[in-house]
Order: sequence, then structure tokens, then C-alpha cells
Amino acid sequence: MFELYLDTTDIVQLTRFNKALPLKGITTNPTILAKSGRGLKENLKLCAEILGTEARFHVQTISKSTADIIKEAEQLYNLPYDIVVKIPATEIGIAAIKQLNNTPIKVLATAIYSVQQGFLAGLAGADYLAPYVNRIETMGTNGIAVVADIQLLIKQHNLKSVLLPASFKNTHQVIEILKLGVGAITLPPDVTDQLFGHPTVQPAVNQFENDWKKIFDNKLSYET
Ligand code: G3P
Repeated sequence: MFELYLDTTDIVQLTRFNKALPLKGITTNPTILAKSGRGLKENLKLCAEILGTEARFHVQTISKSTADIIKEAEQLYNLPYDIVVKIPATEIGIAAIKQLNNTPIKVLATAIYSVQQGFLAGLAGADYLAPYVNRIETMGTNGIAVVADIQLLIKQHNLKSVLLPASFKNTHQVIEILKLGVGAITLPPDVTDQLFGHPTVQPAVNQFENDWKKIFDNKLSYET
């Protein structure tokens, strides 16, 4: 089943969007946690209060060697939440992903900027792959095509990895990625806001209301 995440620990935004969206959980990275001004455990506690005990939390490792990434992943796994450990898809990161394969620890390979990086992380056994769509496009490459190629290779080689693209700056990127049939996505709050905010929607709703009131005043539909 498709998994929708928000790429934030902003409590106000999470509370807002959790009302309308079937959120699977959140994704975080060191920048997001640092910006929140709260440590990991406080963020997890606050976000779990909003999203509930079933929510899934993607949390990134900070360690710089394969052995240390594995130790950090084990510590994250022991936290009392449904944690997916995010590991940057560098050579040492992919080595850690390979060692964590076939353990109960779920892993997301993050910071994917190329098809080959995504494929190697998939081969190593990552449960999720997070290509950075907007950041790829900022480099002058077609981010949608990179995600499509990774997905093609994952399917062709029958790998288990679920595509969870990240890094979006507009709804066009989001829709083009969704059309590929990816299994998951994570959206920043500003782009989520854009998904709801088509400029013609509210004027149309206002027009319905005005037309109704001219004839039926404040009555509700079933009262007429
Ligand atoms: O977790 C990765 C994602 O947050 C990157 O997004 O907007 O910083 O490119 P952005």
C-alpha cells in the first residue's frame, strides 16, 4: 500500500496535515532535526503524540564509518517506535546497508543523486530508496528520469527496495513522480500546502455558496 510521509518535525504543520492526509509517518534528516531545535527523542515523542503509535519514523545516522553506522542503527532500532534507519548511500553507507540486510532493522538509503547509487543501494538490500528529485534537477539533470530509471532497474532485478523519493519544490515534480507508481513519497510542508492550494478552487466554492444563499439563505441542503 502506498505510503505518504511528511519531511518535517514541525508540530503545527504535522497537526494541520494529519487532519486531511493518511500519513504513514515522517522522514527526518540532521538538518530537519537541527532546525527544530529539539533532539531526536523529544521530536519522536511529540510527533508520535500527533500521528499515533502506528506511525513510522525515518531517522538518519550521523556516524562516519561502516561499523559506527551499524552501531548507531542498532541503537535507533531499539527505540520504542517504528523506526526506519536512513543511511546515506555512500560507499561506507552502502557497506552498512549490506551488513544490515537480513536483520530486522529496516533501512532507507538516502542522499541518492544518481541511478547507479540507487541501484547499488538496492542491490545491497535497502528497504527504501530516497532519490532527491529537486536537488538532482538543481544540478541540471532530469530528476523524474533518474527516479524512473532506478525504479526500472529495481523491477528488472526483482529487488525489494521501495522508492521513496524526497526533495520537492513544486507540485509538478510531485505529480510526475507519483505517475511513475512509486511505493512511497515524502513531501515538505510548503509543497503539501501547494497541493491543496490551487488558486481556482476557493473562488469556485465561494460562488456555490453565494448562489445558494441568494435562494435558500442559511439553510443547509437537507433542510430545503
Ligand atoms: O531528507 C532529504 C530531503 O529532506 C531533502 O530535501 O528540500 O533539503 O532538498 P531538500
